Amino acid sequence: MKAVVQRRYGSAVFGELAVPVPREGEVLLEVRAAGVDMGVWHLLEGKPYVVRILGFGFRGPKSPVPGRDVSGVVKEVGPGVTAFAVGDEVFGTCEGSFAEYAVAPVSRLARKPEGISFTEAAAVPISGGTALEGLRGVRPGQRVLVLGAGGGVGSYGVQIAKALGAHVTGVCSTTKVELVRSLGADEVFDHTVADFTGTYDLILSCGGARPLSRLRRATVAGGRIVLVGSEDGGAVTGGFEKSLASVLQNPFIKQKFVPLVARERAEIFDELRVLVEAGRVKPAVGKVFPLSEALDAIDHVYSRRSAGKTVVAI
Ligand SMILES: NC(=O)c1ccc[n+]([C@@H]2O[C@H](COP(=O)([O-])OP(=O)(O)OC[C@H]3O[C@@H](n4cnc5c(N)ncnc54)[C@H](OP(=O)(O)O)[C@@H]3O)[C@@H](O)[C@H]2O)c1
Repeated sequence: MKAVVQRRYGSAVFGELAVPVPREGEVLLEVRAAGVDMGVWHLLEGKPYVVRILGFGFRGPKSPVPGRDVSGVVKEVGPGVTAFAVGDEVFGTCEGSFAEYAVAPVSRLARKPEGISFTEAAAVPISGGTALEGLRGVRPGQRVLVLGAGGGVGSYGVQIAKALGAHVTGVCSTTKVELVRSLGADEVFDHTVADFTGTYDLILSCGGARPLSRLRRATVAGGRIVLVGSEDGGAVTGGFEKSLASVLQNPFIKQKFVPLVARERAEIFDELRVLVEAGRVKPAVGKVFPLSEALDAIDHVYSRRSAGKTVVAI
């Protein structure tokens, strides 16, 4: 099969590999599309270095193929799989979606939402799931601020917060203002002109390196600041110390910092499927690349030119 092949951290090529074989609890997918996000870049580079001791491979990547978000068609089921059958259309996450075929555990797959394309479906799992987890507990009428609202997670953050009945303010740069408005944000701040003002019940922080004190002052007593991520954390820990510092403050402040580690679970993808099928959430697909240009797709995301989600279509 054709695939992006990654034998060591920091380099990958477009080449050929054997089609993988599904093991117990896995299915073989004919991949139709693969979402791209900063996580793919982190695992390609092995940076921050902390990812290497988190189970992704110490000396080199465990998976020979990059890519996690996936949509496709089940071609073969492994031993013990009853949830899916050959021919089912699914989406979710796996190790190695930048390829014509990939094996995926059924614990990370859900039925593909009806009414959207495979390309759109591949843009949903990680970013949509992260936003959904970060916004748990938001009540109608609450004020939600989404930092990085024009990016992968933020584009879902705006839509899911609206679906939960919140008043939503998005923060992004100039070229993404129209996108963020179109996603349903009630207010939009262009951070290249002036930073956001106001106070919020929940801040979903998916972009920009604002001090914790700045985020706390913008949150009401009893409110939450969900730290999704930003790219200012450095090559070693990726900002782990900032997350630690945030939770150490919690006993002494009226707000609560919540560093988020999003889970990749079939149940979460199924919740997203329901939201998409109900028309409450629409994947904001930005640029689409062919598999042979998957490395350009990663560069596109890394260079922050992407608006919404970048996708590799196979
Ligand atoms: N915790 C988890 O489990 C988890 C899961 C997924 C992703 N992440 C991390 O979360 C972060 C966001 O992921 P993503 O996929 O959404 O990345 P993304 O698509 O690159 O979006 C990040 C957005 O932040 C915006 N931004 C940069 N500086 C900003 C500022 N000062 N104020 C407001 N917005 C700013 C960027 O563009 P503009 O400045 O042009 O608007 C960009 O649109 C990444 O660091 C990723 O690694 C964490």
